[in-house]
Amino acid sequence: DWTMESFRDEMIAKIRKQVGKERVICGLSGGVDSSVTAVLLHEAIGDQLTCIYVDTGLMRANESQQVVSLFREHYNIPLIHEDASDLFLTRLAGVSDPETKRKIIGASFIEVFDNCTARVGDAAFLAQGTLYPDVIESVSFTGGPSVTIKSHHNVGGLPEGMKFKLVEPLRELFKDEVRALGIALGMHPDFVKRHPFPGPGLAIRIPGEITREKLDILRKADTIYLEEIRSHGLYDAIWQAFVVLLPVRTVGVMGDGRTYDYACALRAVTSTDGMTADYFPFDHSFLGKVATRIINEVPGINRVTYDITSKPPGTIEWE
Ligand code: XMP
Repeated sequence: DWTMESFRDEMIAKIRKQVGKERVICGLSGGVDSSVTAVLLHEAIGDQLTCIYVDTGLMRANESQQVVSLFREHYNIPLIHEDASDLFLTRLAGVSDPETKRKIIGASFIEVFDNCTARVGDAAFLAQGTLYPDVIESVSFTGGPSVTIKSHHNVGGLPEGMKFKLVEPLRELFKDEVRALGIALGMHPDFVKRHPFPGPGLAIRIPGEITREKLDILRKADTIYLEEIRSHGLYDAIWQAFVVLLPVRTVGVMGDGRTYDYACALRAVTSTDGMTADYFPFDHSFLGKVATRIINEVPGINRVTYDITSKPPGTIEWE
C-alpha cells in the first residue's frame, strides 16, 4: 500500500534513471517546493546537483542567510549564492505598475540565473519544484480560461529557449503532499510548514514604487507580525500571513508630536491551494497587540489596518 516513504523511494529511483551521470541545476527560492526538490535530488544524485540561489533584495528579514546556511552547512549541497539585489532594485526604481514589476523581476531573474548556470559547467538538467496546481493554473488561472489575473513568475521558472532538460519530481503533488514528502526526507517540520512566498517577493507587498527605505520598514513590521503569530500558536492554522506597506501617509499623534507616516495592512488567510481563500478571524486583542507593537517599534508606520477581503473577489496578495 501507498506511503509517502515508498513514494519517496520511487521518486529517487526515477530521478536516478532519468538523470544518469549528468549534472543537474536547481534554483532555490527559499520556499518549500524548491527546497524539497533540492533535498530529494540530493538524496538521489548527491554531488551531481548544484543549487543556485538568486538574492533579489526582495526577501524578508534574514531569509537569504537562512537558506544559504541550511543548504550549504546543514545539507552540504553545493550552492551558488548570487547577490543581485542592486540590479533588481535599480531596475525597479520608479516602477509602480504591478505587471511591469513582475516582468522586470522575471526577466532579471532569468538573466542572473542564466549567468550562474554558465558557472556550473556542463549541466544537462534543470530541476524545478512545479506542483500540480501550477500545472493547472498555468492553463487556466482563477479568472477563467483566457483571463490572466497575474502573470506568475515563479522563481526557478523555465526560461524560454534554455538548453536544459527538465526534472520536475513534484508535478503530481499538492502542497500538503510536498510537505509530507519533505518530512519523509527528514526535513525539519518548521521548515516544511513555512507559508508560501511569491517569487517577486516583497515587491508585490509594496504597492507603488519600491525603495530600500520602504523595504526596510516593511521587513521590520513583517517580522513583528510573524513573531506574534508564532508566539500565539497560530502559524500552522494560517496559509499565508504578511504585511503590506501602503503608499499612503496618514496623520497621527505620538507623545506631544504630530506624525505623518505610512499606513500598513495586515493580511492573513486560510486556504488549501491558494486558489480561493478566507481572511483569518483573529481575536481583536491579537490585532490590537500587533498594531501597538508595529507602531511603537517601526519608525515610518503610524497606522495599522486588517484586510478582511476573501478570494474571490480579492486576491491573496495586493498586487
Ligand atoms: P494571489 O495573490 O493571486 O496569489 O491570490 C495566489 C498565490 O500565489 C502567490 N503569488 C505568486 N507567486 N509569483 C509567485 O511565485 C507571483 O508573481 C505571484 N503572485 C502571487 C501568492 O503569494 C499566493 O500564494
